[in-house]
Amino acid sequence: MIRQRLFSGIQPTNILHIGNYIGALKQWVDMQEKYDCMFCVVDLHAITVPQDPKELRQNILNTAATYLAVGLDPKLCSIYVQSEVPEHAELGWILSTITRLGELERMTQFKDKSKKRGEKVGVGLYSYPTLMAADILLYDTKTVPVGEDQMQHIELARTLARRFNSQFGETFVVPQALIQKVGARIMGLNDPKVKMSKSEAPANYIALTDEPDVIRKKIMRSVTDSGQEIKFDPGKKPAISNLITIYHHATEKSIKQIENDFQGKGYGDFKKAVADAVTEMLDPIRQDIQDYLKDPAELQKILDKGRDAAHDLACKKMCLVRKKVGLGRA
Ligand code: TYM
Repeated sequence: MIRQRLFSGIQPTNILHIGNYIGALKQWVDMQEKYDCMFCVVDLHAITVPQDPKELRQNILNTAATYLAVGLDPKLCSIYVQSEVPEHAELGWILSTITRLGELERMTQFKDKSKKRGEKVGVGLYSYPTLMAADILLYDTKTVPVGEDQMQHIELARTLARRFNSQFGETFVVPQALIQKVGARIMGLNDPKVKMSKSEAPANYIALTDEPDVIRKKIMRSVTDSGQEIKFDPGKKPAISNLITIYHHATEKSIKQIENDFQGKGYGDFKKAVADAVTEMLDPIRQDIQDYLKDPAELQKILDKGRDAAHDLACKKMCLVRKKVGLGRA
């Protein structure tokens, strides 16, 4: 049976957090047997905001080690670094020529990030979604598991696939986003109105490498809602609903069961349980990240193999794309 192609990626900027794990990585692991999976460390995306070159190189390895530590199996999927397959950038350029200014201006991530950077906004940050579309379309991807914040980018990838196909003839598969029913948007612990993000203060997120005492402190100090009931109601109780979502993913208990288990108990008891569950979820991941980083030779081998597999597919696709567009010589 031919398995459908699945593609996703994470930027190697800094440390990954439980939002990345619950929104993206956890579902990747669940899908690796069902789909033909490509998991990319998207370093070309990372440089759309300034990076320290030394730190970036280390973060690329950290991110790859995290992919393995959460349970991605290099025998089942290709794990590789985006910049090592230059066809991503080439297709990104070609897609930028059929992308309209207004389509990029509408992107909320661009609006948010450019506000933070003021005058220093680079063109790369603006055209970021065309590169992301290239990542996806290059591999005939059907399914893209991501958190909710990426929906708009994937919508653009769909538009560009259709536009290219109608302009140059059938070339690209039109991809589909796949998001968690609960957990597609994990919110900040210090402010449940903003999403959990590595660019926020440490009190906002739990890093996958946080030690148990840090996890406990961050959860115990997290913002709560008024009232005292443990009830899932993101509109009225955004902070507790966020903790319930995290607990649901850490324990696999249903939301209903969680509400029942904590009936009559207070926020303090619930937070303690969340801290225990998150610690238990992250203990083996933290340990495995360290182990993979201690064995760089093995990590390099996995990334070499992933790069070769990705490059084979990307080369074939780009031959077709160049021909369709009329680039180069016959
Ligand atoms: P990035 O690196 O910001 O985040 C990686 C993944 O984690 C998800 N995520 C979250 N999910 C739930 N709650 C949160 N608070 C949260 N924060 C992050 C993101 O939705 C994402 O799935 N542009 C992408 C990377 C990318 C990509 C691609 C993804 C580049 N090319 C092609 C899919 C396909 C990004 O910046 O993700």
